[in-house]
Amino acid sequence: MLDKRLQSVAGLVRCGARLADIGTDHAYLPVWLVAQGICPSAIACDLREGPLENAGRAVAEAGFSSVIDCRLGDGLQPITAGEVDDIAIAGMGGETIAAILEACTWAKDRALHYVFQPMSRSEELRRYLLTNGYRIVSELTVCEGGHWYVCMDAVWEDTPPIVDEAAYVIGGLSATADREWLLLRQAVLKKRYNGQLRSGDREELDRLRAILKKLEEFLS
Ligand SMILES: C[S@@+](CC[C@H](N)C(=O)[O-])C[C@H]1O[C@@H](n2cnc3c(N)ncnc32)[C@H](O)[C@@H]1O
Repeated sequence: MLDKRLQSVAGLVRCGARLADIGTDHAYLPVWLVAQGICPSAIACDLREGPLENAGRAVAEAGFSSVIDCRLGDGLQPITAGEVDDIAIAGMGGETIAAILEACTWAKDRALHYVFQPMSRSEELRRYLLTNGYRIVSELTVCEGGHWYVCMDAVWEDTPPIVDEAAYVIGGLSATADREWLLLRQAVLKKRYNGQLRSGDREELDRLRAILKKLEEFLS
């Protein structure tokens, strides 16, 4: 059984997709998706040997060694173009996820479907995606153990760059956006705004004011 966070990630993976799980660690995600019959195969990758050994052990114990391949390497480097359909990158900082995409020569492919779960700096990931031809299809937030997690799925469509600070900071404000999470974001942004009032960075103040205005309009 997956925890709520990984369950949300799993829920965004397409049925029938050959999966790449980047930063797999214990390989919970690919093992679960293959066990459920959602993914016929998967490639579980990790930068470090220890986590990859954990993955190999979990895959062998589940009896999936013939369909889940464990590979060592940085980001998407262990994968060859065309080997997978869906790519999950969960449990890393948003800036690391963006760097992994940027370093990959074949990431900008309309056939690919991405699932991201940034642990921090989701703003930097959205900024990268929205200014590099990606479209964020949907975003969802999940609360577990008192922590909020953001999950998003995205595609690359050569979309013109979106310059929208609010979209980078709070994501797409859709009807399904979680009100409780948005209220928390609003409180954090207000605190940041008040902090800036004291230090007096004019540009940052204008940026935060515009984001807060958009958020307030949406919440009202
Ligand atoms: C916190 S764990 C997340 C495990 C799992 N994806 C999850 O969400 O529960 C992060 C994993 O990402 C791996 N990692 C960090 N940077 C990486 C990179 N550039 N490429 C591949 N794996 C990376 C780490 O070694 C670690 O095993």
